[in-house]
Amino acid sequence: MITINLAVVPGDGVGKEIMPEAVDVLTAIAEVHGGLKFQYEWYPYSCEYYIEHGKMMDDDGIEKLKNHDAIFLGAVGNPKLVADHVSLWGLLLPIRREFEQVINIRPAKLVKGVSSPLANPSEFEFVVVRENSEGEYSEVGGRIHKGPDEIAIQNAIFTRKGTERVMEYAFQYAMQRRRHLTSATKSNGIFHSMPFWDEVFHSMTERYPEVDTQSIHIDALSAFFVSKPHTFDVIVASNLFGDILTDLGAAVMGSIGIAPAANINLNGKYPSMFEPVHGSAPDIFGKGIANPIGQIWTGKMMLDHFGELELGTKLLNIIEEVVADGFKTPDIGGSFTTKEVSSEIIKRIKML
Ligand SMILES: NC(=O)c1ccc[n+]([C@@H]2O[C@H](COP(=O)([O-])OP(=O)(O)OC[C@H]3O[C@@H](n4cnc5c(N)ncnc54)[C@H](O)[C@@H]3O)[C@@H](O)[C@H]2O)c1
Repeated sequence: MITINLAVVPGDGVGKEIMPEAVDVLTAIAEVHGGLKFQYEWYPYSCEYYIEHGKMMDDDGIEKLKNHDAIFLGAVGNPKLVADHVSLWGLLLPIRREFEQVINIRPAKLVKGVSSPLANPSEFEFVVVRENSEGEYSEVGGRIHKGPDEIAIQNAIFTRKGTERVMEYAFQYAMQRRRHLTSATKSNGIFHSMPFWDEVFHSMTERYPEVDTQSIHIDALSAFFVSKPHTFDVIVASNLFGDILTDLGAAVMGSIGIAPAANINLNGKYPSMFEPVHGSAPDIFGKGIANPIGQIWTGKMMLDHFGELELGTKLLNIIEEVVADGFKTPDIGGSFTTKEVSSEIIKRIKML
C-alpha cells in the first residue's frame, strides 16, 4: 500500500468550499486504485486565522508542513480582512520559497463542453512552465521619502542557476510532449534581465536540437494566446510573465475556475504544493456555486507527480465527460452546484 501523507490547506473563500469536494474525489480515486491511500491533515491557515492569531500560520507552520509528502491548497486571500500582500507574503510565498518550489506548471486546454470566449477556437493544449522562486517577485528594493519626492525601487532577480533550471525543466517537459518550446521574453524593452534570459535560452537550444524553439515578446505572446493558442505546446516564462500568461490561458479555456497548477520542488528535500490557478473568489463565496474542477484537476496533477499517471488520465477523462454531459457550474454556463458536480465525478470514479 502506498500512503501519501497530505497537508490540506483550504485557505479562504471558495477554497473552503471546493477543498472538501476535491478531497472526497481523491479518496474515491484511491479506493479504485486499491493500493493507494491518502492521509489528510487539515490546516486552518487563512486570513481568518490571521485575524485570530496576528499571523497567517503558526510560527512553526513551515516545520509542520515540511513533514508531509505534498501540500494540497485551495486559495488564499480575503482583502476585506487582510491586505493581499500580507496574506500572500505570510503564507503562499513562504511555502513556495522555503520548500524550494522553483517550478510552477500550469496547463491549459480546450475542454469539451466548456465554451471558450474565443470564437471557433482550434483545439489547443499547452503548458506554461513558470519560474517560481525569483524574477520580478522579489523583496529586493525599497522606498524612500514621502510625498511628491517619494521613490519606490523594485528589483527583479534573475540568477543563472534559476534561469537555467526552469529552462532545463521546460526543455525536458517539451521532450515528453510535442517537442515545441516557446520562450516568453521582453528583451526589446527590459534592458538587462531579458537579454540574459534570451542568452540562456539560446545556449540551451543547442543542447536540445530535437526541440523546435521560438522566442516571442510577452506582449505579442499574450495576443497569440488569444488569436492562435493551438500553435503552442510548452511555454517557459519568468515569474511575472508566467503568472499573467496563465490567467490568460485559464480565460481562453473558458473559466479560471477550471484551471489547475502545481508548484514543484525538484530536489526532493521538501513537499511540492498543488493549488489551482484561481483565488478565493470572494464575489461568489458562500453561494455553493464555485467550480470544483480547478481543484480536482490540480489533484490529477498531484497523482501524476506521484507517478500515478494512468489514474491521473482516468480522472481527467472523467472530468471532461462530466462537463461534456452538462454538469456545469454557472461560471461555465451551467446551473449545477459545487457539490452536484463533484458528486457526479465521484459517482463515475466509483464505476471505474
Ligand atoms: N493562489 C491563490 O491563492 C490566489 C490566486 C489568485 C488570487 N488570490 C487572492 O484571491 C482573492 C480574490 O482575487 P481575484 O478576485 O483577483 O481572483 P479570483 O481568481 O479569486 O477571482 C477572479 C474571478 O474568477 C471567478 N472564480 C475564481 N475561482 C472560481 C471558481 N472556482 N469557480 C467559479 N468562478 C471562480 C471569481 O468569481 C471572479 O469573478 C484576492 O485576495 C487574491 O489575492 C489568491
